[in-house]
Amino acid sequence: MKTTVRGVRSVDIEMSQPERAAEFYGKIWNLTEVERKGGAIWFRGTGAHHHILAIHPARGAAALRRLTFDAASRDVVQALHRKVAASGCTTEAPHEIDAPGGGYGFGFADVEGRNLAVICDVRDHKDTADAPDRPRKIAHVNLNAAQLEKSNAFLVDVLGFRKVDHSGPLHFLHCDNTDHSSMVMGAARTPTLNHVSFEMPDLESCMRGGGRMRDAGYPIEWGPGRHGSGNNVFCYFAGPEEFPIEYTGEVLQIDESYEFHGPDYWKWPPGRLDQWGITPPHTARWKRIQDMVLFTPGEYRL
Ligand SMILES: [Fe+2]
Repeated sequence: MKTTVRGVRSVDIEMSQPERAAEFYGKIWNLTEVERKGGAIWFRGTGAHHHILAIHPARGAAALRRLTFDAASRDVVQALHRKVAASGCTTEAPHEIDAPGGGYGFGFADVEGRNLAVICDVRDHKDTADAPDRPRKIAHVNLNAAQLEKSNAFLVDVLGFRKVDHSGPLHFLHCDNTDHSSMVMGAARTPTLNHVSFEMPDLESCMRGGGRMRDAGYPIEWGPGRHGSGNNVFCYFAGPEEFPIEYTGEVLQIDESYEFHGPDYWKWPPGRLDQWGITPPHTARWKRIQDMVLFTPGEYRL
C-alpha cells in the first residue's frame, strides 16, 4: 500500500460575493455546478471527482478555506492520519463526511496552519469524457510558505510527496498519480496561496479559454507560454475578487524513473520566461495577487 495522496481533489474558497463568483466559475471558467447548500456552491470539472471547487460565503476578504487531497482507500486515509497525528499537527479522527459528495476522511492544520484534508470513497461521477474548453480537474496548487523547508518536509515525509524538480524559486512535488507535480511550493513572508491551476484537455482549450476570459474582461496576467519544469502550457488570470487562477494543459506525465533537476538545469536565456519565448513578463497585478490570499484560520475540521 502506498501511503501517499493521489493529488489535489478539490479546493474550498471563500468569496465575499459568492453568487457573482459562482456565475463566473460556471459561465466563464467553464465548470459545472453540482450542488448548492447553505449559501455554498459546488462545481465539478469533466473528470470523475464529485467536485473540484466549492465557493463559500466569506466572513472577510476572499480566502482559501481548504485543500483536499484524494486518497486511494480507507486504509490509506487511516495510515496518513496516523502520520499526521504523529507529526504533531492538529487534526481530527477520520470519519464519514456529511457534505456534498460524502466520503471518509479527516482534516488537519499543517506545519504552517494551512487547512488540509485527505478523503476517499467520494461519490464520484461516471461520465468523464473530455469536453472542449472545459477544465477536467485541479492540476496543481502552488502555495507560498514562510517556512519553506519545513512545509516541503511535511509534504514529503508525512503526505508522501516526492520532490521532482527545483526551478528558480519553485519546488515541484509529485504524488501517487502520473502528473509531473500536484503541489508547487515557493517562499514568501507569510503562508499564502500562489495560485490554483485547472487542467484543460489540450493546448487548444487553454488558448480558447484565454480568449474567452479576455472577452469577459479577465485579461491574461501571464502567458500564454510553456513552462520548463512540468512542460505544461499556462495562462494565468485574476478571477473574481482577485483570486489567482491558471488554465494549464499538456502536463508532463511521469513515473518513478523521472530524474530530479535543480535550478542550474532549469535556466532560460536572458529575457526568456518560457519554452516558446513568446510570453511577456507577468503583470504587476499578477505579482500582487500571487501572494495575497490567506488560508481561513482554524477551519481544519471537515
Ligand atoms: Fe501553475
